[in-house]
Amino acid sequence: NLVPVPDQSPWRVQRLPESPSTNEVAAEAVRRGEPPGLVVVTDHQTAGRGRLDRRWETPAGVALTCSAVVDPGVPDAQWPWLPLAVGVACCEAVEELTGLAPGVKWPNDVLLEERKLAGILVERVLAPGGHPLAVLGIGVNVHQRELPVPTATSLALAGVQTTVEELLGALLARIGAGLGAWRAEGGPGALRASYVRRSVTLGRRVRAELPGGGVLEGRADRLDEHGRLVLTDDAGEPHVVGAGDVVHLRV
Ligand code: BTN
Repeated sequence: NLVPVPDQSPWRVQRLPESPSTNEVAAEAVRRGEPPGLVVVTDHQTAGRGRLDRRWETPAGVALTCSAVVDPGVPDAQWPWLPLAVGVACCEAVEELTGLAPGVKWPNDVLLEERKLAGILVERVLAPGGHPLAVLGIGVNVHQRELPVPTATSLALAGVQTTVEELLGALLARIGAGLGAWRAEGGPGALRASYVRRSVTLGRRVRAELPGGGVLEGRADRLDEHGRLVLTDDAGEPHVVGAGDVVHLRV
């Protein structure tokens, strides 16, 4: 039931033929006392969750669908960088295996040629003693030849081949390395630099749709210290938006 990962890997991979939501399975395991390092991966996710209560649909056997449990080991104020770190790790893993260089659309969509290749959902879950762990949920479109929406793509549609197992191994290695560097540095400085390099949002004009129906338009200038996006509107006024504040970001 286990997929091969490198020796001395900190990860324990549990592969389920079918699962409603790997994030939910991983979160339940954390609540029962499972330590960090658990990775739940499924061949067929039947009720996947996306950001803002959206659904994440994947037919059987065509995608990488997984959730990794980590103890980030960074101060609470730095937690909002976690989904951005996973986005960078995902880009790095795809690049390592295929040579393609995906980009990140803020906050954490992974794009290839302006279409969505992967989605990320990070959730904070309390272990029995009250210590918070992070469930890093990742869905990458790998073998799909058709997708339900024209704004999505897959590695196969981009003309490259890899396996779900290889991609999982590379992704876990990149997540581990990224978190290790972040802890060692004591802050997300190197992560910010990698994120900015891969960002398809920064420097561009964007339109952020807000939960109440409002809209903010302007130039995406930079990220603040919490990984929030700073937009400058046409009057030159800066606006700070957090990942939870934006329903849709159009680039
Ligand atoms: C989004 O783009 O809105 C985020 C999608 C996240 C999907 C992944 S698939 C594995 C993990 N389990 C879930 O239920 N969701 C995440």
